[in-house]
Amino acid sequence: MILGVPKETKLKENRVALTPDTTKELVKKGFEVWIENGAGLPSFYNDEAYLTAGAKMTDKNTLYSTADVVLKVNAPLPDEVAKMKKEAILISFMWAATNTDLIDACCKATISAFSMDAVPRISRAQKMDALSSQANLAGYKAVVLAADSMGKILPMMTTAAGTIRPCKVVIFGAGVAGLQAIATAKRMGAVVEVSDIRPETKEQVASLGGKFIEVTGDDSIKTEGGYVKGVSEEFLKKQQELVSKHVKEADIVITTALIPGKKAPVLVTEAMVQSMRFGSVIVDMAVEQGGNVVGSELNKTVQKHGVTIIGEGNLPSLLPMNASDLYAKNMITLLLHLADKEAFKWEMEEEITKGSLIVHKGQAVHASLKKTLA
Ligand code: NAI
Repeated sequence: MILGVPKETKLKENRVALTPDTTKELVKKGFEVWIENGAGLPSFYNDEAYLTAGAKMTDKNTLYSTADVVLKVNAPLPDEVAKMKKEAILISFMWAATNTDLIDACCKATISAFSMDAVPRISRAQKMDALSSQANLAGYKAVVLAADSMGKILPMMTTAAGTIRPCKVVIFGAGVAGLQAIATAKRMGAVVEVSDIRPETKEQVASLGGKFIEVTGDDSIKTEGGYVKGVSEEFLKKQQELVSKHVKEADIVITTALIPGKKAPVLVTEAMVQSMRFGSVIVDMAVEQGGNVVGSELNKTVQKHGVTIIGEGNLPSLLPMNASDLYAKNMITLLLHLADKEAFKWEMEEEITKGSLIVHKGQAVHASLKKTLA
């Protein structure tokens, strides 16, 4: 089986789907690995390292038209999918429910496609969970970016000239990214306050040394499988009022609140931004899903009312060595679950296969697509 890894083409994408280490592991297991020339360079892996690991280097067109399995971080463009062999297999992030052009292209090309973002979040699939591995790094990087954009240090410092007070960091959302942001800000010496609406996060926040901002929930908060499914406008208003005094006093605000499949909730209003001190910094990690902060702009850093608002849409890509390393490990664990060097197993009722298979031999099969396609 020939596995092909093209160079990522998305703007500002530095990650690559396989590293030299994971290539070596796959070659040892009997797979052939073909890498597009220069694919690893933005992650600081050169062609020589892949060659030493046993890969073959090639150009994009040869790779797409020869590979039995294409491994990517971001989904290929429809015209790249069209170059794939009939019955070839794609594994990448797909965000299938909102990417109908891609699904159409996969069906037209009669390929099969598994999506990394659709791998079920069950214990035995933790090693394949690219959403978590990347969100973890993003949470770290958000704090580092904020710290770098501020004219202050985070920890308390006692000097002969006087004592510097520690920074106050307010974090919205204590999911994977938020928890890592709490841990990072605490390690850097900041005082950290956190708001989430899932009650179970209170204990997790406390165990990392964060202070939980209590917002009493109401019946409008719907959760399912550890995710928030929806929350009313009235509740969001109540939450905004309660957290506004914490935001006003914050040096850094990091927002990570997401509701899967929906637009991100607005948590920081323009009035709240205006109330913050001159020189404070906000990182809106939900910016790609519409943003938690009024005024944040995708892939831009803007100044509003004297506050720097960072809207970087791809934080893991700013740590490409770790991000590619973890993503590649997620990827090969999924691949080795689904296939051996000879063929894919196609265990259609098995939970991980069923959860992550979006298109099967030209047919859109994933449950999440039924509504979209209808
Ligand atoms: P996410 O990225 O969907 O959301 C981030 C956070 O935003 C969540 O904690 C959510 O409660 C919070 N949020 C939503 N609306 C909010 C609001 N109005 N105000 C404040 N916060 C708000 O979440 P992520 O990081 O993907 O994790 C979600 C869940 O999945 C967690 O329970 C986590 O433990 C679970 N999980 C389970 C895994 C497994 O079993 N293998 C792996 C990874 C995560």
